[in-house]
Amino acid sequence: GKVRAPTHIISTISDDRGEEPCYGGVPMSSIVEQGFGVGDVISLLWFKRSLPRYCTKFIEICIMLCADHGPCVSGAHNTIVTARAGKDLVSSLVSGLLTIGPRFGGAIDDAARYFKDAYDRGLTPYEFVESMKKKGIRVPGIGHRIKRGDNRDKRVELLQLFARTNFPSVKYMEYAVQVETYTLSKANNLVLNVDGAIGSLFLDLLAGSGMFTKQEIDEIVGIGYLNGLFVLARSIGLIGHTFDQKRLKQPLYRHPWEDVLYTK
Ligand code: ACO
Ligand code: LMR
Repeated sequence: GKVRAPTHIISTISDDRGEEPCYGGVPMSSIVEQGFGVGDVISLLWFKRSLPRYCTKFIEICIMLCADHGPCVSGAHNTIVTARAGKDLVSSLVSGLLTIGPRFGGAIDDAARYFKDAYDRGLTPYEFVESMKKKGIRVPGIGHRIKRGDNRDKRVELLQLFARTNFPSVKYMEYAVQVETYTLSKANNLVLNVDGAIGSLFLDLLAGSGMFTKQEIDEIVGIGYLNGLFVLARSIGLIGHTFDQKRLKQPLYRHPWEDVLYTK
């Protein structure tokens, strides 16, 4: 019989050996003919299954709402400075992407982890928030530099509206809202932010869709798939900022002395 040499790579999400590439076993032509969108492609390549339309629509809304947030935020600022230093598209893009992390855009996975753990263990919002405080950990998904209790983040409201209308259950999101009610009673900037909204709602999507086992949900949350949504989304805006600076022929950026406190 044939002897099969051991392979150096195992891949389970796509295949380009046939007449046309397949994503998760679905040929490219079906993807086009069936009118699949980016949410369907993400479902196939990240979650390795076709998700119901309300789930893929939710993924697409996350991507649209997180695509950009103006030139002043960490990621766009880095990208703009890099583009103005004469660097190429990829350098300008990754310079911005590298700011995504626990404080900026990359709190989605941790928000999902902590909200899930607290909800599943039956902690009240008070017990959850105070236990985080004791550990010296800021609650991921809570807090914003400019959003306030009386100036909520529109993106959060839009995601919540979509989920309340389309998801079978929003129990994790409702828990996150209760946490927000408690944190807002402590300080007006401790709103549920867009990372916290996506993190908690994705838990509802995973648990409520009936498409994932408990072990699969734990694996998705454990590996940390969800920051990928922000990385993917914000790449759209960061690429836009790079083109914008090049189009405007902006010179090398140098930060003004007046804006620095020189001290010993
Ligand atoms: N949980 C508990 N307390 C908090 C939190 C939080 N998430 N955020 C702020 N506080 C409290 C703390 O007491 C903080 O004091 P400390 O510095 O001694 O810890 C106090 O509020 C003052 O906070 P600021 O430093 O003024 O908050 P800032 O505006 O700098 O921070 C930030 C905003 C970074 C988003 C912060 O709220 C945070 O770390 N949140 C958790 C991470 C997160 O969700 N990031 C995603 C934001 S959304 C996005 O980037 C798209
Ligand atoms: C963003 O989406 O970039 C913002 O929420 C972060 C910010 O600082 O406004």
